[in-house]
Amino acid sequence: MPTDLRARAEQVVQRCQTLARFSEDSGTIRRTFLSAPMRDCHREIAAWLAPLGVTPSVDAVGNLRALCPGATPDAPCLLVGSHLDTVPNAGSFDGILGIVLAVAVLESLHPQKLPFAIDLVAFSEEEGVRFGFPFIGSLALIGRLDASHLAQRDSRGISVREAIEDFGLNPSSLPRAALHPNTRAFLEFHIEQGPVLENLGLPLAVVDAIVGQSRLEFHFSGRANHAGTTPMDLRHDALAAAAEWIVAVEREAQRVPGLVATCGAIHADPGAVNVIPAEVRVSLDIRHASDALRAQALAKLLSFADEISSRRGVSVSHTVLLEQRAVPMNRALCDQAAQAILAAGFTPHRMTSGAGHDAMILAETVPTAMIFLRSPGGISHDPAESVLVSDVEAALACGLKLFEQLSSSGEFLGHNLPSKNNQTRTLRE
Ligand code: HGY
Ligand code: MN
Ligand code: MN
Repeated sequence: MPTDLRARAEQVVQRCQTLARFSEDSGTIRRTFLSAPMRDCHREIAAWLAPLGVTPSVDAVGNLRALCPGATPDAPCLLVGSHLDTVPNAGSFDGILGIVLAVAVLESLHPQKLPFAIDLVAFSEEEGVRFGFPFIGSLALIGRLDASHLAQRDSRGISVREAIEDFGLNPSSLPRAALHPNTRAFLEFHIEQGPVLENLGLPLAVVDAIVGQSRLEFHFSGRANHAGTTPMDLRHDALAAAAEWIVAVEREAQRVPGLVATCGAIHADPGAVNVIPAEVRVSLDIRHASDALRAQALAKLLSFADEISSRRGVSVSHTVLLEQRAVPMNRALCDQAAQAILAAGFTPHRMTSGAGHDAMILAETVPTAMIFLRSPGGISHDPAESVLVSDVEAALACGLKLFEQLSSSGEFLGHNLPSKNNQTRTLRE
């Protein structure tokens, strides 16, 4: 067990790479909701926690939970962690790092008992890859995973409920997945996944807010026909219509400052070289720090889809998969995190997160903060995703300082914590 922080940081990176080996695909990393490799991760993390006398459990939606008691049985509780699932062809650190870093902080503190308990969580699903909508794990913790979520089906027609049962879990024990009743705050370490910290030459940042995002699926429906005999002016080509719309999406996102829009997944039927595509499904992920500007842009993209489709004689419809408002982090907890970064000897940059995180869900019910680590090359959601050991060491030092501050100040994990988040509640549509 390494004692100094540099050795511990090296172990954190190695452990992330160990978890990265648990994948549904050979040669690349893909770990989706309640897939078999999740069990391997659970087993590995349990082995790391065993020497601390902590036995994790798996809740009704597959979140791994491990409670490290505080100095007293009724101590307030700090939730710490991130997500275990990944995108396809993922990197080794998105989500995972926040879990492994939290374990390393617990190991550094052991056997010291803090005035607060620490509830470690490894969320089962944050990316939304398997079912098209994200945050299954964290929605369960705040009691907002409902029947409509459980009824959603994946590409094989398996519902969330059936996936839970297939994994050997019981959907009816969902209420028991709720937050520990004494939970008073949530802290998530995460890679930045963008270029900001690298351009600034800084290791760490405090996240002030997380942008809002909408995820939709568009369905362009044209008419299949023979690729060789159908003149160009008589076609109703669903893929050509979708392609024209995708370029219009990109152009609008380039035009509006702070707007990002991505058509990341497309599927064309019948998908034969010599058949004019009849049915095309295209995903849209659109994000902005301002909900109003995001809504405005989305309305424009919808009108583009209608105009292009009617001109081309195809029809278009869309399904909203996610409507997530921008979420500010808890100001006081952010200030504590910035103070801890400073106390650890680093400059606390403050920034907005363009990526979505479980923190935006937990922030609906408990004061929440995130600390970013630099992403070398600004790369993420790709095998080239990385972290610097020195930045992990900085994050460990910052985490230990933050726990020290929270122990002595009692501002958050003492008796006088505001019971609800001290910012305007965010409504989720
Ligand atoms: O897509 C995201 O923003 C995050 O990586 N789930
Ligand atoms: Mn991600
Ligand atoms: Mn993530």
